[in-house]
Amino acid sequence: MKPSMKSATFLLASALLCTLLGLGYPLSCEVCTSDGPNCSGKLQTCTHDEDTCITILTEAKKEGSLAVTSYKGCAKSSECDSGSFAITVNTENYMGSTRRCCKNDGCNQDPLPAFMRNHTENGLRCPSCIAAFTETCTSTQETVCVGDETHCVAVSGLAQSHVKFAAQGCGMENACHSKPGTLVPSGSHLLTIKKTSCHPSSQASGKAE
Ligand SMILES: *[C@@H]1O[C@H](CO)[C@@H](O)[C@H](O)[C@H]1NC(C)=O
Ligand SMILES: *[C@@H]1O[C@H](CO)[C@@H](O)[C@H](O)[C@H]1NC(C)=O
Repeated sequence: MKPSMKSATFLLASALLCTLLGLGYPLSCEVCTSDGPNCSGKLQTCTHDEDTCITILTEAKKEGSLAVTSYKGCAKSSECDSGSFAITVNTENYMGSTRRCCKNDGCNQDPLPAFMRNHTENGLRCPSCIAAFTETCTSTQETVCVGDETHCVAVSGLAQSHVKFAAQGCGMENACHSKPGTLVPSGSHLLTIKKTSCHPSSQASGKAE
C-alpha cells in the first residue's frame, strides 16, 4: 500500500469509528442562568463527555425567602433525570424543581417548564434537619409533608462544587432515585446532589392511615 493510501484508509477508519462511538461533533446547548422563570443565552459547544442539554427551573425557599431560578446548559446523561424533584425540610426551607433532558443541538431553547408546589398537607411527617459543611445531619424536629412528598429523604451533596451540605425532610418518590450528580440551581448557588436515601411513607410517623 502506498503511504497516501494508508493514511486515507486510516482517516476513513477513524471517522467511522468516531461516528459509531458517538464521538463525532460535540453537542451544542443553550447556556444561561437567571433569577426568575425564564432565561435565554447563547448556544455553546459542550465538552465531549456532555451528551445532554438540560433545562431546570427551581423554586426554593431558604430561611423564609422565596427564589425562582432558571438554568440551561450542558450535562452528562448519567446525571440528568427528566421530571420533578422536591424536598421539604420545613415550612421555611424547601425546594422543588422541574427538569428536562434532551439530546439534540439547541434542544433546550424552549421556554422553561413551570414548577407548581402543592402546599396541601398530606398527613405524613418526617424527621428534618439541614446543615452545611457536613455529609450528615441529625434531625432535631419533624416536618409536615405536602402534596406528593410521600417519602422521608436524606440528601447530601455540594453547594458551589465545594461546600458540603446535608438535609433531611419529606421528598417526592423520585427524589429517592436521583442520579448522583443531579444539579439543583438555587438562587446564587448551584447544588449537586451526591447521595440520597429514603424511607417509604409507611415508615413515616404521624397521622398517616
Ligand atoms: C417567559 O416565557 C414565557 C413563555 O414563553 C412568556 O410567556 C413570558 O412572557 C416570559 N417572561 C419573561 C419575563 O420574559
Ligand atoms: C395536592 O396534594 C394533596 C395531598 O397529597 C392531594 O390530595 C391533591 O390532589 C394535590 N393537588 C394537586 C393539584 O395535585
